[in-house]
Amino acid sequence: MSSTPTATDSWARNAVVYQVYPRSFVDSDGDGLGNIAGITAKVGYLHDLGVDAVWLSPFYPSALADGGYDVDDYRDVDPRLGTLGDLDDLIAALHERGMKLVVDIVPNHTSNRHRWFQAALESAPGSPERARYVFRDGLGPDGEQPPSDWVSHFGGPAWTRVPDGQWYLHLFAPEQPDLDWSNREVHDEFLSVLKFWSDRGVDGYRIDVAHALTKDLSEPLRSKPTVANDATPETGDDPLFDRDEVHAIYEEWRQLFDQYDPPRTAVAEAWVPASRRVLYARPTELGQAFNFDLLEASWDADTYQRIIDTNIANAAESGATSTWVLSNHDVVRHATRYGLPAGTDLESWLLSDGKSAEEDPEIGRLRARAATAVMLALPGSAYLYQGEELGLREVADIPHDRLQDPMWLRSEHTRKGRDGCRVPLPWTTEAPAFGFSTAEAHLPQPAWFADYAASTQIDDQASSLSLYREALRLRRSLSAGETLTWQEAPAGVLRFDRTDGWSVVANFSGDPFPVPAGEVLLATQPLSDGVVPANTTVWFAPEAQPRD
Ligand code: GLC
Repeated sequence: MSSTPTATDSWARNAVVYQVYPRSFVDSDGDGLGNIAGITAKVGYLHDLGVDAVWLSPFYPSALADGGYDVDDYRDVDPRLGTLGDLDDLIAALHERGMKLVVDIVPNHTSNRHRWFQAALESAPGSPERARYVFRDGLGPDGEQPPSDWVSHFGGPAWTRVPDGQWYLHLFAPEQPDLDWSNREVHDEFLSVLKFWSDRGVDGYRIDVAHALTKDLSEPLRSKPTVANDATPETGDDPLFDRDEVHAIYEEWRQLFDQYDPPRTAVAEAWVPASRRVLYARPTELGQAFNFDLLEASWDADTYQRIIDTNIANAAESGATSTWVLSNHDVVRHATRYGLPAGTDLESWLLSDGKSAEEDPEIGRLRARAATAVMLALPGSAYLYQGEELGLREVADIPHDRLQDPMWLRSEHTRKGRDGCRVPLPWTTEAPAFGFSTAEAHLPQPAWFADYAASTQIDDQASSLSLYREALRLRRSLSAGETLTWQEAPAGVLRFDRTDGWSVVANFSGDPFPVPAGEVLLATQPLSDGVVPANTTVWFAPEAQPRD
């Protein structure tokens, strides 16, 4: 009996999704900024890498006040990046090679250049135009104080005053005014945007700050004087984040997604406790939620095991699979994180331009490879970030006058921001931009990028790129069953079996561990003397057990 497909049997359940940060991937028209046609030119590379889908960070028209997460028009392409026709070509090229396209949707805020916000500024307090956003009168005599103590994620108050004296809310930069999701017009607009892209052939959506849309805006506004996007309580009663009402929005979106064949998929970016995250992933809602636990984890076997167990169990409870992420456009790349001394405070390290603690690139390289091979061996869906397949490290010393992240300015230079993981990729060793562009790249690339160029890795069996390609090839051919069984292992070592005779040993920091009997399928560094050394992961097919 056939039934309507839902998120429970979606292609996304065990997919490997590759995140492209469009302005830093490939520039095909020589202006130093990556573009859509550049991505299309690399579809063959992505196919050979072996990913199932590409997730595009925002490519919409934008003043780039926050790397494109300030969207001027949700139904268009930034003219510097191309046209809607270019995007259609990208979709077609991906589909032709059996890959899917996921795009970023930013529903918490528009940009201040969006026609709705412009109309709101031109209209009077109390008007329907203002009611799409969160405009309020200020406190104190003449309303000179912001309406509440809420703070922006990028630093400073979350309120900005407009000339007629009212204030508007922005949990991020002032150029990103928050929408008011208690207004039905906002719901209808996003349903229409999702339909627009789904009709064009987009296969899925990554929902930006999915946990922030509904807020407690009852008067007097409640106090929340901490950084806005901080971890939230498990009660669903924070004034700003992860409120229970938000789920009704995604239930309505799911009804739209399921009208398509295959149903459109979605993944929530929701920085909430593990127990709450899975609510967004229910089949009746988005189907997936990012699990950022590995991305925040130290290199430690027990930590990994706990994270893996919790997330697999939570996902199963919600009817979804877990997602796994080691790097993305918001965090220090994992090859660098794992090369820094344990306990290094990443914000301070970035602020010191990478000088406050010494990075050991070799240890980082080994651990990043081993961590990736653990992640890719887990049931569920893995998200890769562009450049991690090259083993790329963070660029910690971008000259300060070239930094673009609003965090740097808004925090009054106390937080460096995220540019170090957004530097355009090195495709070749050639000047002026390592094959990224024929012009200088929009964020400066360091000389050491030459060592990481894709062109030098492609035919080198020991390279990071070859490891990713091999791991993804194997992952496809091995059983994709959704279970994992732990086997006993000494401290510092994880050992687990996947369905159908596929097993994994990851030696985090333990003594050299004997190579298990059977066929080695993948090893993140050469195995000699019959041992798996520290900082190494091995996939193997155990010797067939004699049957009784
Ligand atoms: C998400 C994005 C981040 C952006 C923020 C505001 O966290 O990943 O890059 O700055 O939302 O849109």
